Amino acid sequence: MMKENIRVLLSEAEVDARIQEVADMINRDYAGKNVHLICILKGGVFFTCELAKRITVPVSMDFMSVSSYGDDTKSSGIVKIVKDLDQPLEGKNVLIVEDIIDSGRTLSYLLEILKGRNPSDIRLCTLLDKPERRVKQVKVDYCCFNIPDEFVVGYGLDYAQKYRNLPYIGVVEFEED
Ligand code: IMP
Ligand code: MG
Repeated sequence: MMKENIRVLLSEAEVDARIQEVADMINRDYAGKNVHLICILKGGVFFTCELAKRITVPVSMDFMSVSSYGDDTKSSGIVKIVKDLDQPLEGKNVLIVEDIIDSGRTLSYLLEILKGRNPSDIRLCTLLDKPERRVKQVKVDYCCFNIPDEFVVGYGLDYAQKYRNLPYIGVVEFEED
């Protein structure tokens, strides 16, 4: 039997402190404006909540769920909208909030779709980025952490739907029982 072990990569305190720094940047950049947060379900939900609590300009929020055709570990770049936004983006300062940018395929596709809905401005904020893995270039406006090419879980990220609730970021390791 293989046993899964989670090695801590970024502690809860480190993640929380960094989210505060990124929120401070957002508060400066959006001073005098509203920000419309788009949470990408399900992975983005923990980060979106923690970020939103630290934003001091007026916030509105919407949620979107996408799935990429292909298996769980590799995205194809064709994105299916599983749950669309409830509200239009026309005239809004949109900030997309994602858990992780890996190949960049999901976000580059999604950005094109959402730009077509005529927001005033559209930016991207991610908790994690694996720049080494990039296949499709996407402009990341706010990033909490660049991480090496390892499969991570926690803070919304899952492995086979497990570990989303961990309050830190960890690497899944497998060992013999
Ligand atoms: P991509 O940028 O289109 O390749 O896909 C990004 C998506 O792949 C993320 O939103 C996650 O759902 C998933 N993903 C990529 N790397 C990881 C990881 O290390 N752990 C958990 N999910 C990941
Ligand atoms: Mg995701």
